[in-house]
Amino acid sequence: MSSLFPTYARWDITPIKAKGAWLTDKSGKKYLDFTTGISVCNLGHVPDNVKQAVNEQLEKFWHTSNLFQIELQEEVAKQLTAASGLDLVFFANSGAEANEAAIKLARKATGRPKIITFIDSFHGRTFGTMAATGQEKIKTGFGPMLEKFEYVPFNDLEALKAAVDEETAAIMFEIIQGEGGLNAGDPEFLLQVEQLAHDNGSLVIVDEVQTGIGRTGKPFAFQHIGLNPDIVSSAKGIASGLPLGAIIGKKELAEAFSPGSHGSTFGGNPVSLAAAKVTLDTIFDNEFLEDVTKKGEHLSSLLTEGLSSIPQVKKIKGKGLMIGIEMNEEAAPFIPAAREKGLLILTAGTNTIRLLPPLNVREEEINQAAAILVETIKEHVYEKTAGQ
Ligand SMILES: Cc1ncc(COP(=O)(O)O)c(C=O)c1O
Repeated sequence: MSSLFPTYARWDITPIKAKGAWLTDKSGKKYLDFTTGISVCNLGHVPDNVKQAVNEQLEKFWHTSNLFQIELQEEVAKQLTAASGLDLVFFANSGAEANEAAIKLARKATGRPKIITFIDSFHGRTFGTMAATGQEKIKTGFGPMLEKFEYVPFNDLEALKAAVDEETAAIMFEIIQGEGGLNAGDPEFLLQVEQLAHDNGSLVIVDEVQTGIGRTGKPFAFQHIGLNPDIVSSAKGIASGLPLGAIIGKKELAEAFSPGSHGSTFGGNPVSLAAAKVTLDTIFDNEFLEDVTKKGEHLSSLLTEGLSSIPQVKKIKGKGLMIGIEMNEEAAPFIPAAREKGLLILTAGTNTIRLLPPLNVREEEINQAAAILVETIKEHVYEKTAGQ
């Protein structure tokens, strides 16, 4: 019997090593990993340059505290501000912690309580971020929720206008709802959200925990649209698998996070930062990012072509290397079927198969994954029809 709380429906795979896009389990079976720890290992498993930086930092020191001047924090903060166009960084350990910081900062800086988010959003599992999440199933049994969170249908401007008022501290959203089903915000809508927020004296918080760090072909996905957010949260891919989260915000917000107002013992740990520095150096590079876009287009076109005759496939969606296959039936059965054939993938929402390969995935790996997926989907669909 497991000694762990059963919070996860775990797969029957025990990893023993992983490198690049490949993961080997205890039985010796090799899998092509298009989950990358859920958009975390963006340079693949155990990238050599990150490993070396981590090893070097381990030789120096691991942890002091945030009472010290940590040079690596300044260096990584500069990478994040340069890439985002924002000014100041606070380091946390995870996506939920980064979003907590964003919510706290927005409330304190505006002196207003209300945070508006969108239906099917996902912002984390802490009390603040669970309250911010627009999905009932995440909250079941944990009530009462924190007050003053309100949810509006995504891409519905009229509903948003009705919700925004003088109590609104911030409007918070993902550019593409990762957990909720790879639902993209319409660029025109998101620009109007920003206008509405700023006209009302409210802040814009963009949750880039899943879409950020090059995943969509830009350092941050809001840059495809030309938004001007006040706070951006980041985590997941930021340190190639070592725990780190961050918010990046405008300098006008500095006063609200004065000494003693917020903190974290482990936030901005030097070992994670050593990993982040090399990770960001590699990913925040125009050529690298253009390559992500090209690879994404290649994978999407293979899927579009291969699945064009399957009526159960509604559409191929996403951006860069965050790709979804939206089905008009549940996506869950396709995950173990692809795994059987050596490909690791995820679901998003109920009906979408989600692909999150490493950003440096090779062309032959993309071809191999697409072939497995097309075969898996065709087999499943034909089997179902044959059984009818
Ligand atoms: C958009 C988004 N925000 C926040 C989170 C929470 O991040 P973490 O699990 O690191 O707390 C996630 C995790 O999936 C996410 O996708």
